[in-house]
Amino acid sequence: MRTAPPGGRMMEGYFVPEKTVVSVPSWTSHRNPTYFPNPESFSPNRWITPDGLGGTERMKQLYMPFTKGPRTCIGQAMALLELRVMLATLVFRYNVRLSKDIREHDMEITDHFLLIPKGEKCLLDFFPVSKIEV
Ligand code: HEM
Repeated sequence: MRTAPPGGRMMEGYFVPEKTVVSVPSWTSHRNPTYFPNPESFSPNRWITPDGLGGTERMKQLYMPFTKGPRTCIGQAMALLELRVMLATLVFRYNVRLSKDIREHDMEITDHFLLIPKGEKCLLDFFPVSKIEV
């Protein structure tokens, strides 16, 4: 947890008293419609640009699930590698859908440094690709 330093600090024209808990909410920055048009739509294509660089400069600045600066996540490269391998392996072998046992309320968002679902779980059903029921 990070707090404003002794004596407080002016930030972007606002005075933040000392000991105030401060953080940069990824939720807000990732949903700034000026830089992420239609932020609520699931649109991976927004990161696929003809130049192959993936998004505008501003999008890349605001994208910070691993945060930025001196305390940035040192496992970022490894995490991204693991995620790609794991996701590719899963979708190659299984069809995945949200479990019927999950309630909408469980999936509401709670701010928790990054975000977690309110129910603190996301139940998924996995069906081997050859045995999916439609
Ligand atoms: C999707 C996976 C991951 C996410 C979203 C994530 C995100 C984060 C975030 C937000 C921080 C806090 C940075 C800050 O305080 O500003 C952090 C710190 C850290 N992460 Fe990760 N992380 C992930 C995976 C990993 C992995 C796989 C490792 C190690 C192999 C790792 C090691 C660390 C360490 C050691 C810190 C503390 C860095 C410091 O305080 O100097 N993380 N991570």
